[in-house]
Amino acid sequence: MILSPSLFFTQKKCLLLVTALLVFSAILGTAAVARAGAPPPATISSSSSSSSPSPIPSEPPAHDGQNKTDPPPAEPEEYKYFQEAGGGAELTHYDARFFRGKVPYATHRAVLAHLIRSYTTTFRTSLRLETWLAHGTLLGWWWNGRIMPWDFDVDAQVSGETLRVMAARHNGSLHEYTYRNETTGLDEIRVFLLDVNAFGTRVGRGTGANAIDARWIDVETGMYVDITALMERDRGGKPGVVSCKNFHDYTPAAIWPLRETKFEGVTALVPREFEKVLVDEYGAKSLEVTEWEGHHWDAKLKEWIKNETTNENKTEGVL
Ligand SMILES: *[C@@H]1O[C@H](CO)[C@@H](O)[C@H](O)[C@H]1NC(C)=O
Ligand SMILES: *[C@@H]1O[C@H](CO)[C@@H](O)[C@H](O)[C@H]1NC(C)=O
Ligand SMILES: *[C@@H]1O[C@H](CO)[C@@H](O)[C@H](O)[C@H]1NC(C)=O
Ligand SMILES: *[C@@H]1O[C@H](CO)[C@@H](O)[C@H](O)[C@H]1NC(C)=O
Repeated sequence: MILSPSLFFTQKKCLLLVTALLVFSAILGTAAVARAGAPPPATISSSSSSSSPSPIPSEPPAHDGQNKTDPPPAEPEEYKYFQEAGGGAELTHYDARFFRGKVPYATHRAVLAHLIRSYTTTFRTSLRLETWLAHGTLLGWWWNGRIMPWDFDVDAQVSGETLRVMAARHNGSLHEYTYRNETTGLDEIRVFLLDVNAFGTRVGRGTGANAIDARWIDVETGMYVDITALMERDRGGKPGVVSCKNFHDYTPAAIWPLRETKFEGVTALVPREFEKVLVDEYGAKSLEVTEWEGHHWDAKLKEWIKNETTNENKTEGVL
């Protein structure tokens, strides 16, 4: 049989893909160990060229012929899905599977900036899913459109519907993000994993160990974006109010329609009433205080500057 060029090309492409997957599963070897039985990440997409989404898993088979008195299958017992490198203030910012040592203060902000840039850009252009800045990341945006230098993680929110699409179509997917290294002038590629908590789409808060619904993880360092979904969780008690599993309540009018803005130099979205959201969560002082966590606000530079004295009696990185 003679292989047609197109068929040959497809086989070659398949081979390349398989090789790429093998390389990635080698990189992610620890992931497979940490979560026994988990299949390797399914899709690799690039933020510059959009990929077709993987098919939605088929519905579970219907049980027409079965005994109607059988009890429904029990929901799997809840365990803590995301495992951090450690419980302390420092190691809790890293996914255990990809942790290769603490990222020092001097470079952590660049790592976080790549996290949030790759995340907002991939969601906007490749996945076409709506997500917006939340918590301390939103506060950093309010001050100067940047991650605050004492932050060691990044927070974003999505709607409950978006989380369900992430779970059904994009869970376990790897995404390449290309950026220009300003020091060398060369393009560098980083890879990020979109990991949806097995208990993420549940409406109830469960044991409280799974308040983070999904993560966008830098596989090089283990640092991540925490993603939480807003949905109506207490229809009887607080009708119309949306919240995450950490009891942050919002009226939909405070969130939607979202505003388009820039964060760390790329297009991002923030809640409609961002100041109300920030004051509700952190108090009015959060928009006034110019001394914070060993840093002071330089109004001329529009930048938080680390106090000279901070390192004297403090271990680096401890918050
Ligand atoms: C259906 O349920 C009844 C009552 O629990 C039980 O006696 C019977 O064995 C069940 N049949 C099947 C096929 O499971
Ligand atoms: C840019 O390249 C230099 C030299 O290879 C490297 O030390 C630095 O970490 C890179 N910067 C970023 C943000 O990746
Ligand atoms: C996402 O994928 C992981 C690894 O396969 C799996 O353990 C987890 O249950 C999945 N999450 C959802 C919401 O299906
Ligand atoms: C650091 O600790 C020393 C000794 O306890 C103390 O004298 C000094 O004032 C401290 N410096 C700062 C900036 O807190």
